[in-house]
Amino acid sequence: MELVAVMKRALSPLYEEILQAYRNHLELLAVVGALYTAQKGLNVLCGCYRAIKFHISIRMFSKTFLARQYGGWAVVTGATDGIGKAYAEELASFGINIILISRNRDKLQTVSESIATTYGVKTSFIDADFNKGREVFPAIKEALKDVDVGILVNNAGVCYEYPQYVTDVPEDKIWEIINVNIAATTMMLHIVLPGMVQRKKGAIINVASASARIICPQLAIYGASKTYLDNLTEALYHEYSSKGIFIQSLTPVFVATNMIRPMCTFFKRTSILVPLAKDTAYKAVRTIGLCRRTTGSYSHSLQVRRSGSKVNNSGD
Ligand SMILES: NC(=O)c1ccc[n+]([C@@H]2O[C@H](COP(=O)([O-])OP(=O)(O)OC[C@H]3O[C@@H](n4cnc5c(N)ncnc54)[C@H](OP(=O)(O)O)[C@@H]3O)[C@@H](O)[C@H]2O)c1
Repeated sequence: MELVAVMKRALSPLYEEILQAYRNHLELLAVVGALYTAQKGLNVLCGCYRAIKFHISIRMFSKTFLARQYGGWAVVTGATDGIGKAYAEELASFGINIILISRNRDKLQTVSESIATTYGVKTSFIDADFNKGREVFPAIKEALKDVDVGILVNNAGVCYEYPQYVTDVPEDKIWEIINVNIAATTMMLHIVLPGMVQRKKGAIINVASASARIICPQLAIYGASKTYLDNLTEALYHEYSSKGIFIQSLTPVFVATNMIRPMCTFFKRTSILVPLAKDTAYKAVRTIGLCRRTTGSYSHSLQVRRSGSKVNNSGD
């Protein structure tokens, strides 16, 4: 007890000193507090403004808006299935002519004809296997040389069939991810950007993934390839937005497509957590020009936020 009393007596001047210093700096602390609250308030207001602008724009979107804003032709890579096919159909529903790129000629022919008849737009296709690397791009460049590409959806992508440690991923799969997810996306925008810059308009959508924003053990190479895309997109935004080009990164979580089916039977069923590709494309197309990064669905935005993304400067 005596020890406590001695400690109290010894610490009392220190306590008084701290209290005095606190009183002296009270006003400064009040200013810091006010600035912090103001900054948080401003963030909330900006968020509300973005949300209102987003929803009004969705409702007021005229069907010819996209073509007028960016141009009448869109190129969609990986357009024969999943998210890419859904993008192609959604853009066609806005009256935009579509050039599809994928590997399989028969599938390209079928999807191309179906889009042309359903939406009454012009379509054509280029068959190219991005996994072949550099050799396929001169032909693509040649095929697109007289086309005023208004929108490029860089969608083609591959993943592992199931989660694996890096050392277990076959070499061929590693090169496929590098060739398709990284190299092809970069080359495609390298091909179409000069024309867009010349016309001072255009939009590029790079289909990344939530794995670009969340650390993904056992999908490390895939996740890293998508981080490349997401990072590239952000840098391109700064390089080209002043030249009239809109650049966007799409970062969905799980979408019910062939890509994720081998991983888990759970994903065969669609749910609020695992939307259909057409629902993702429906929402994503309506954010073109509005936000430079979107997951394409509210539930995915919540999932990415809940998991704590490694970067957070999105517009979604
Ligand atoms: N599904 C998801 O949960 C999810 C989530 C986040 C991000 N993503 C991303 O979304 C994009 C589309 O994925 P998805 O789920 O729609 O996949 P998907 O259903 O498997 O479709 C992939 C498309 O890419 C084409 N493709 C594949 N390899 C190609 C190659 N070597 N050369 C040219 N085209 C090739 C395929 O066409 P052919 O086979 O006919 O050639 C197909 O049209 C990918 O970039 C993926 O990483 C998907």
